Amino acid sequence: MVDENYVSMLPTSASQSWSAKINGQQQELLVQSNAILLDVLRDQAGTLGVKRGCDMGTCGCCAVLVNGQPRLSCLILAEEARGAMITTVEGLADTHHLHPVQTCFAKAGGSQCGFCTPGFLVVSSALLEQNPNPTDEEIKCAIEGNLCRCTGYQPIVDSIRMAAEIKQNGNQTANLTNPSSDPHPIGPDEPTLPPGDAR
Ligand code: FES
Ligand code: FES
Repeated sequence: MVDENYVSMLPTSASQSWSAKINGQQQELLVQSNAILLDVLRDQAGTLGVKRGCDMGTCGCCAVLVNGQPRLSCLILAEEARGAMITTVEGLADTHHLHPVQTCFAKAGGSQCGFCTPGFLVVSSALLEQNPNPTDEEIKCAIEGNLCRCTGYQPIVDSIRMAAEIKQNGNQTANLTNPSSDPHPIGPDEPTLPPGDAR
């Protein structure tokens, strides 16, 4: 129970009506006037694909598109994105098909533990919208704000380059984004156990 003499060090913030188009759907929410966009997206809009890494603008895990531009949602007040079109990783695929960057991250090993992946996917999708045929240097420049602890980055660059090639070649796109295709068609080999040890 809060002591009646307790004085909050933080000013209380009023809740107010807020709306934005998130992944193509208009959402009307009641948010606090000092709410951070990352919190609104994860805790109220339900887009849990947006990851909280550092919470201070250094890892890129929380990247989303605000009106088509990559932004770090941990550094933006929701108020700044009022009325905007916001795209999170959940909004990159169309109804049935993965975005080429999603397909290629799976195919070329651009994702391992996956925690950083939503941020990379969002940023690289924006890159390919603006520059359909980036050089490796341009790809590295675009993802310089995104940190990955697992991949060593080269598979990520390879994945984005592959996605650029696919986006420029429609017939391959249809094949690679077949919703029924398994991005990991070959699983690990079955372990060979001596007779009698099989469990
Ligand atoms: S959580 Fe936003 S940059 Fe790390
Ligand atoms: S895949 Fe694990 S942090 Fe990037």
